[in-house]
Amino acid sequence: MSRVRKSLFPAAGYGTRFLPATKSVPKEMLPVKDRPLIHYGVEEAIDAGLTDVNIILGRGKGAIEDYFDKNYELETELQNKPKKLKLLEPINSLIQKGTFTFRRQGAMRGLGDAIFKAKSMIGDEPFGVVLADDICDNPSGDGVMKQMVDIYEKYQCAIVAVMEVPQEKTESYGVIAGDEVEDGIFRVSNMVEKPKPEEAPSNLAIIGRYILIPEIFDILEKTEPGAGGEIQVTDALQELAKDGKVIAYKFKGKRFDCGSVDGYMEAMNYFYNKK
Ligand code: G1P
Repeated sequence: MSRVRKSLFPAAGYGTRFLPATKSVPKEMLPVKDRPLIHYGVEEAIDAGLTDVNIILGRGKGAIEDYFDKNYELETELQNKPKKLKLLEPINSLIQKGTFTFRRQGAMRGLGDAIFKAKSMIGDEPFGVVLADDICDNPSGDGVMKQMVDIYEKYQCAIVAVMEVPQEKTESYGVIAGDEVEDGIFRVSNMVEKPKPEEAPSNLAIIGRYILIPEIFDILEKTEPGAGGEIQVTDALQELAKDGKVIAYKFKGKRFDCGSVDGYMEAMNYFYNKK
């Protein structure tokens, strides 16, 4: 059995919901309290043992590469200011624990395409996918990716994290249907990307956390554009689900949709008030 040790961060999107801020700053670099959005996801992945971090970038996303690299000049400047130097500890600790690889997506044809572009970085092993827009926090235990790794180890197939959403919100998500095989764990029988509320198979929506198996690459290569004219990972997963190879897991903890201004403000308040 192969251990999950790689993570993938698709970070090529334009972040149009945050224009004009994201005109010149990657949305993954917008701060939530004192660290950028993507810091939270990378920390969650590394804490789950996924220390091999792979990030798919688009044009103008260079600030992300710089963030995950040591800044010697800054550290030299701050050498005699230990309090300020200490502020770099959270990022320096991630840099020390992880190895980072970056690749450009080129043409942007959707999430499924961004994942497919990582085929050579991932190779023949299971891997976690984190959409940095979604910040998750579980103050009372393991982070969401760690929870999913534990489930992967038991079921040995693709895992998607899900949460209940109001029925009228299904159009913003991939939505699953399945049989509950354990409390909060479903063997997925159907999944639909961004269904209209009346067509949604349930109100269990996929959030930005996945564990995928290498079989997904061959499927993605053949997947036609779906919802929004984009290649959807949900459609590729639906193929795996036909063989019973997808588990949906109702994760423990909170999730903030930082792809929307409301969710971003909520996260900002939450982390500001968190001790
Ligand atoms: C993507 C996925 C969708 C999932 C969502 C979670 O959509 O395609 O299935 O529910 O992330 O945030 P996006 O938000 O990129 O449109």
